[in-house]
Amino acid sequence: MILFSPAFACCVLLALAASYVWACLASPLRQVPGPPSSLFTSWVLKWHEFRAGRTRYVHRLHLRYGPVVRIAPREVAFASAEGVKEIYGAGGSGYDKTEFYDLFQVYGRRTMFSTLNKQDHAKRKRVLADRYANTNVLRSASMDGIKERSKRFVDRCSKSIGGSIDLFVRSHFSPFLARIFLNSSQVFMIMLLTVSVIISSTPMGPTRFRTRKTRRSCGKSLSTIAFKVHRLLSYYNPGLHAIVKNILALFSKPRETPLADNLVLTATSKSDPLEFTLLSRMQDKNYDLEQLDMAAECTDHMAAGIDTTGDALCFLMWEISQPRSLHVQQRLQEEIQSTTPDTPFDKLPYLDAAVMEGLRCFPAIPMSLPRYVPPGGRTIDGYYIPGGTIVSAQAYSTHRIDRRVFPEPERFNPDRWLAEDGGDLDRKRLFFAFASGGRGCIGKHLALAEMKTLLIDVYSRYSTRPDESMTDGDMEMSDQLISSQPRGQKCWMKLVPFKEPS
Ligand code: HEM
Repeated sequence: MILFSPAFACCVLLALAASYVWACLASPLRQVPGPPSSLFTSWVLKWHEFRAGRTRYVHRLHLRYGPVVRIAPREVAFASAEGVKEIYGAGGSGYDKTEFYDLFQVYGRRTMFSTLNKQDHAKRKRVLADRYANTNVLRSASMDGIKERSKRFVDRCSKSIGGSIDLFVRSHFSPFLARIFLNSSQVFMIMLLTVSVIISSTPMGPTRFRTRKTRRSCGKSLSTIAFKVHRLLSYYNPGLHAIVKNILALFSKPRETPLADNLVLTATSKSDPLEFTLLSRMQDKNYDLEQLDMAAECTDHMAAGIDTTGDALCFLMWEISQPRSLHVQQRLQEEIQSTTPDTPFDKLPYLDAAVMEGLRCFPAIPMSLPRYVPPGGRTIDGYYIPGGTIVSAQAYSTHRIDRRVFPEPERFNPDRWLAEDGGDLDRKRLFFAFASGGRGCIGKHLALAEMKTLLIDVYSRYSTRPDESMTDGDMEMSDQLISSQPRGQKCWMKLVPFKEPS
């Protein structure tokens, strides 16, 4: 009978609680600096994550506790060059990804981005890597495609003269980036070209562009939040997710792209892709990929490339448009004017510095990129971390934490990248916008080519200014699952012709 008495139940609960506390106190992670609560519970971290504030929370902990900080009982964040090198560079590809990346499977398949272990990743990367090499991106056929689409984008923007445009909508839902991808056909497959055309003519294309007349404040959409909660819950607590998913489904609507999906699936079912395309590589019998794997990979690259480049451009142009940064805009315009139209985009040092500084201040993927410490544990940046612990670095913090390398880290200052102070190596070691190591961004060269081409086209013809309706809060970085967006989900700007007609 004693087994069913409340006193016995209390004793059992107390014993369980005591053994949990004992295990936490005995953990090697106790030696790692961090808030006391993080030794016992991950709920504080999750609370911030569900409220789209994880990046800032982790950064606050770094500011308080230093470049190595315990953020949960089995999770440690690093913001040092040593930490980044060990976690993302050890053995080439760094440590394995965690199940967090299950959330990024497409059509139920793992893509290069969502493969977890080194072996699977290396196998997939062998198929795809050469298509994204800088030499491929710089080929004139690719660059011509990028330039042509960039010009079209700027022409379209010119229709807003005298009014304002929403750059966030343009750079995310406009055909510009999609078309650039699709038209840099030496880099991408022809299939993507077709998809881009479709994207541009769907409701996500020009018909959704917002002008002053149609402006409405969309703010933070309930649907977006619910969708994110949906996915995070399925990762952290599948049991609870199974219970509440139907309720969440009432509020959350995933971004649907039925035409693009359909086209990707149709194109990958055909058997005669052009020789230079990703698809031709993936259809090579030696690689033994199913059609759905190829379609998933294509869709994933579009998603990985469009949102990130769009976010990065949006934040950078916004900053350049602020009164405090008008000198940056002027120097950019002067540099562009001092060159001939044939000057390659990568031969403009100030433009390069501005883009680097934009990616430093507003990395499109600012959040932790979680990895597992291999079995047996490792010593990382002076701390022993047991096997199976989740370790990560986030660009937002590596770009800010070391004030010797990045003085006045909150200030947008492209000149820091041009300083001849011997600090270039340190700056590059902490620059993490494209991550690093074997799992760093494969589309980096393409992204830089797109961003610089567009900036040249815009700032050779226009000056940009913020629209009066915008507030600083609208452009605060708000966490998505792994990337970030302007909190207000809008970025209204004015384009003023650079040379006023005389
Ligand atoms: C400014 C633009 C971009 C930024 C800031 C960016 C950033 C990143 C980062 C931080 C990662 C590592 C993510 C992780 O480890 O979890 C990554 C991976 C990746 N990115 Fe990008 N990216 C950009 C543009 C692009 C473009 C244009 C493409 C291609 C169309 C692309 C395709 C990929 C792919 C396929 C991966 C997975 C690589 C792998 O696992 O080996 N990205 N990107």
